[in-house]
This record gives sequence, structure tokens and C-alpha cells, in this order.
Amino acid sequence: MTKIQIALDGPAGAGKSTIAKQLAAHLDYVYIDTGAMYRAVTLAALEQGIDLEDGQQLGELMTSLDIRLTPGENGQRVFIGEREVTESIRSSEVTNNVSFVAKHAQVRSALVEMQRRLAESGGIVMDGRDIGTVVLPDAELKVFMTATVEERAGRRHRENVARGMESDLEALQAEIALRDKRDSEREVSPLKQAEDAIYLDTTDLTIDQVVLRLTELAEGVL
Ligand code: C5P
Repeated sequence: MTKIQIALDGPAGAGKSTIAKQLAAHLDYVYIDTGAMYRAVTLAALEQGIDLEDGQQLGELMTSLDIRLTPGENGQRVFIGEREVTESIRSSEVTNNVSFVAKHAQVRSALVEMQRRLAESGGIVMDGRDIGTVVLPDAELKVFMTATVEERAGRRHRENVARGMESDLEALQAEIALRDKRDSEREVSPLKQAEDAIYLDTTDLTIDQVVLRLTELAEGVL
């Protein structure tokens, strides 16, 4: 059976990674979380004390940074060289700085090239902000997934509480709204729906309902 490319874009906290992981498992496809790649660059830049406004320095960092993705039990594991950074790229310091790093063309061009190589042979579910518009413009299925900012912050909050982590709903809502604003307003590859993407508002849908809907859509193009 042909193995297609599935591009899943949308704002922060829309549930893309949860859905993408389950959809990939269901179709026996590979799942690639491109946000994790921007996060890994941000972690390295912060650790090396690089000025996040300096695109040239970040571009130099890209030439030496060895980002590796491997499938793991809970989705994707992320490494910089031999060092696993799967957890450390989720820190609030990285989360609050990643949009500054992601706006630079020097960073994006290097990551987009990696992402295209990973998707080359199909059988892939890739989630991000510019997958349908820039990375995989010919993807057979493109979905733009969103939900209200209140719902997205609420989901993150419930996840944090369930994990026993401290969580402030209002702060989460403000953080998500600010990250969306930065990602949508940047000049290079802003967050936006591809013209040929299917719009899916998940505010009132459960994870299972969304996975089912996407599975039906994928089977429709297979
Ligand atoms: O998906 P996640 O929330 O982990 O993404 C982190 C950040 O990485 C986004 O807020 C955005 O700034 C950047 N990103 C991007 N393009 C992508 C994926 C993520 O600019 N394809």
C-alpha cells in the first residue's frame, strides 16, 4: 500500500503531538515532532550563551549541531549527539524562548532540509507550524488543527496537574497566546493554514474522536 505524507499544523497546545503519535501508530507510520527540533536548537543556544537575536551565530551553531531523532515508547526521543534531551527540551525556559530561535531563516533552512529528508520515503506523520505550507507542500493529507486558547491552556493545565506538576492556568493561557502571536507574526514561514489543508477545530472533540477523523481522512487518500 502507498505510504503517504501527512502534515499536521496548528498553534501551541492544540494536541497535535498526541494525535500525531496515535495516528502514526495506527497507520504504522513514523511520527516526527518538528517542534522538538526547534526546541533542541534553543536548548543548545541557551547552554552556549548565544544571543537569540543573532541569526548569524545561530546559523553557525546549526552547522555543528547534531540533532538525532529516534522512535521511543512514548513517541519520539531527541538527542544532541549522544546526549538525550527528550525531557530537557520541555523546560519552561526552552518553551518561552523557542519562538525567538524559530524566527531565523538560518535555523529554519537547516531544519527544513532535515525534515524533508526524513519525510522523503513517505509513511510519515509530521507535526509543526509550517509543514503543509513550506516543508511538505505536496503532502497528500494536510490538516490544520486548532482549539480555543482557553481549551488549549486548560488541556495543558489538566496534564500538568495529572503529572503532579505545579500549574497556573492563567499563566499558561498567557504563554500560549504570546507564543502563537510570535509564531504567526514572524516573517519567515509563519504559522498559517495551507490553502489545501483541512481545518479541524478540536475544542469540543475528544482525542479518540480526532484520531478517528484523521484516520478516516488518511484512509480516504490511500
Ligand atoms: O510544537 P511545539 O510547541 O513543541 O513547538 C515549539 C516551537 O517551535 C513553536 O512555538 C514554534 O516557535 C517552533 N516551531 C516552528 N516550526 C515548526 C515547529 C515548531 O517554528 N514546524
